[in-house]
Amino acid sequence: MVENVAESVSGSGARSGAPRPLLSAEHLYKIYSSGDQELYALNDLSLTVEQGEFTAIMGASGSGKSTLMNILGALDRPSRGEFWLDNELVSAMSDAHLSSLRNRKIGFVFQSFNLLPRLDAVENVEVPLVYGRVRPADRRARAVAALQQVGLGERLNHRPTQLSGGQQQRVAIARALVTQPKLLLADEPTGALDSETTLQILALLDTLHASGLTILLVTHEAEVAARARRVVWVKDGRIVADGPPAQVLGGRQPIVPEGA
Ligand SMILES: Nc1ncnc2c1ncn2[C@@H]1O[C@H](COP(=O)(O)OP(=O)(O)OP(=O)(O)O)[C@@H](O)[C@H]1O
Ligand SMILES: [Mg+2]
Repeated sequence: MVENVAESVSGSGARSGAPRPLLSAEHLYKIYSSGDQELYALNDLSLTVEQGEFTAIMGASGSGKSTLMNILGALDRPSRGEFWLDNELVSAMSDAHLSSLRNRKIGFVFQSFNLLPRLDAVENVEVPLVYGRVRPADRRARAVAALQQVGLGERLNHRPTQLSGGQQQRVAIARALVTQPKLLLADEPTGALDSETTLQILALLDTLHASGLTILLVTHEAEVAARARRVVWVKDGRIVADGPPAQVLGGRQPIVPEGA
């Protein structure tokens, strides 16, 4: 009790109480209106994630997974409810603050890689640092280090068309990591990859998680979700199950490399 009081007095002042989760979504709603119809893409959804967790989000098509990821990634704001990230109230931020927060604290990986075709691997990874106003010489060094971290140190000057799907996704992961974010969000990162390449990307996510990164991953595949430590199941904009993979997925096994 005494420690809690001390923390609330000496803390950043953003909120009282301690310790706070890295991510806290409280009673989120996302309501789309068309004509006199209202669609509740998120419907009173609450979720907390601690620093260092590796969580998979599953659910049927249209259940609200991408809507949720876009709010957690500060790409969008909820219609109602609060979203806190690292003690900052994201749901009340202006567009300029949202993009600054994204650049400082969040890495995003998509199914379709979203690399710039005219830029080579290093230049693609440098892009967030350009926005972050990092000096050119530092940019290059940090981009090279991020590509080495994902095992692409030998492909620095290849353009996206000269790389395999798995290698392109590694470049995208390096780009997400180069700003040293608190949170990595991945929406179907293996959705466009074959099973062998999926395993490589999952192994990379395991390594990043082991090094302390907080990861949230959307997937349709139970075998992929089973690699996370926690699975959250979304249905009709609400969370209907939340727990360890074995509990939520009903005993489906993670995919592991042959012979492992
Ligand atoms: N910009 C929008 N305008 C209107 N409705 C939207 C918009 N974006 C999403 N929706 C609706 O919100 C609901 C949730 O969509 P969302 O994209 O979050 O689903 P999802 O779980 O990511 O699905 P999938 O697995 O197919 O990617 C769907 O009914 C969708 O049609
Ligand atoms: Mg989606």
